[in-house]
Amino acid sequence: LGYSGGKRDLSGKHILVTAGGTREYLDPVRFIGNPSTGKMGLSLALAAAHRGATVQLVVGPRVEVPIGLSIQGTTITSAAEMQQALQRLFPQADWLLMAAAVADFKPATYHPTKLPKVAIADRLELEAVPDLLQMLSAQKKPHQKLIGFAAQTGDMVAPAAKKLVQKGLDAIVANPIDQPEAGFGSDRNRAVWMTPQLPPVVIPTQSKLSLAHRILDLALTL
Ligand code: CTP
Ligand code: CA
Repeated sequence: LGYSGGKRDLSGKHILVTAGGTREYLDPVRFIGNPSTGKMGLSLALAAAHRGATVQLVVGPRVEVPIGLSIQGTTITSAAEMQQALQRLFPQADWLLMAAAVADFKPATYHPTKLPKVAIADRLELEAVPDLLQMLSAQKKPHQKLIGFAAQTGDMVAPAAKKLVQKGLDAIVANPIDQPEAGFGSDRNRAVWMTPQLPPVVIPTQSKLSLAHRILDLALTL
């Protein structure tokens, strides 16, 4: 777990990280989900813990919380459960690193018994999920920093710049999901760090762990 050079420059900081994807169930066997594996969020949590931070890690299904470090894990399934966890944990956090892929829509009703497939097309009514970052940016105190992530295809800078402003973020990490050595499930990634004031910073392809350290270096400049 190198890359940090033994620095303890995050000691005393409380860092909240989200990782993985949420699932919005229609019935016990079907859900709306996404391909996020949680690697970027986990790398951020590990890197922050190694640099001395106290880390709260909120993860979606199938993401394993590392044990034996100063990382406290909370496992959630849906965006509503992630919202509850963030409402509980955000007041104590200095930074929120929102690497999770949160659902945009969910089935309007949950059916507790399995639907026969012929009934699904008729019943699949969708409802918007509230934007969790936007909700937290309305509550945040001046010392708290909100860092969003935007996984994009094609041009990633323009859409990420829009999200930075719309969600009231301190920074956004735009990253490609349509290129080799990048995106969902990859061990490596590249990104563009964007803030409201300064020019964007290109972070070239590297392991998600070293990318995590770069992101933490940049977050320290906020
Ligand atoms: N996000 C959130 N709540 C949601 C959806 C997304 O907090 N309901 C967060 C993500 O965790 C991420 C950031 O917003 O940190 C950007 O997510 P992204 O999916 O790229 O942006 P959206 O605003 O959902 O826009 P779109 O899916 O249309 O690109
Ligand atoms: Ca989205």
